[in-house]
Amino acid sequence: MSDNISPTPAGMTPAERAATAEEHARLAEGALLRADDLVAGYFPGVDILRGCNFYLREGEIVGIIGPNGAGKSTLLKALFGLIPVRSGSVTLAEESITSAPAHILVRKGLGYVPQTQNVFPSLTIEENLEMGIYLRPKEFAKQFDRVASLFPLLAERRKVKAGALSGGERQMVAMGRALMMEPSVLLLDEPSAGLSPMFQDEVFIRCKKINAAGVSIIMVEQNARRCLQICDRGYVLDQGRNAYTDTGTTLMHDPKVVELYLGTLAGSREKRKG
Ligand SMILES: Nc1ncnc2c1ncn2[C@@H]1O[C@H](COP(=O)(O)OP(=O)(O)OP(=O)(O)O)[C@@H](O)[C@H]1O
Ligand SMILES: [Mg+2]
Repeated sequence: MSDNISPTPAGMTPAERAATAEEHARLAEGALLRADDLVAGYFPGVDILRGCNFYLREGEIVGIIGPNGAGKSTLLKALFGLIPVRSGSVTLAEESITSAPAHILVRKGLGYVPQTQNVFPSLTIEENLEMGIYLRPKEFAKQFDRVASLFPLLAERRKVKAGALSGGERQMVAMGRALMMEPSVLLLDEPSAGLSPMFQDEVFIRCKKINAAGVSIIMVEQNARRCLQICDRGYVLDQGRNAYTDTGTTLMHDPKVVELYLGTLAGSREKRKG
């Protein structure tokens, strides 16, 4: 992307320039999903997203990284209609979906896996996946087989209660449930959080496979380096605004991103583990 943008003013890195509203407006042209100048929050008078811009092209994996509390989960919730958008717009395939309710968005091809509490622990794997397709129950068997081809464990252990599974296995159930409706866009909030390094790697490999099967992916991640390695493009969000955006590789080597965010994120991960 950096080759593709206007000359960069002195002192700004190309990724910083690409994160400006002007460059966003230019680069987001023709995107499958886009958010423009989003303002949203939880309490009246307190904005968490403060003019956030985002776009996803068909076929992409786009990563969103940034410090704790930056508004990453809030951005996903705003895209998926879970919190009211105070101003700005969300557009899917040229159609406004700003603040549309989640069940409408699911019909339009969006799938969302929240950061926490993303399975029903007292239900079996099979029942959890049924919940994912309650809008089209007759298709259950067909879709279950399709999802199980991506996550064979879900079929092998279909009668096991989700509450009895490991964190990595639960994550597969949560992703599997979101995939039951054959979404064109999948929103994942920290899919690798809390997993052992081996399971984390498994999650990233699965995401690549899901993407190769035709699903465009938006992924919020604490595991910033690994996320940037696999994504086509990435955003660094800070205090509810875009700080940097570029290809994953460029962001990983942007000196400001490394200094301000990758170091910090690596540090906070270590602290969490300890
Ligand atoms: N349900 C909520 N009600 C009120 N405030 C909230 C709620 N969820 C998040 N916030 C606030 O919004 C801000 C951004 O939170 P958000 O969860 O979007 O951050 P994040 O970037 O996803 O952080 P993390 O990396 O810790 O998951 C924080 O200040 C948080 O306290
Ligand atoms: Mg979050």
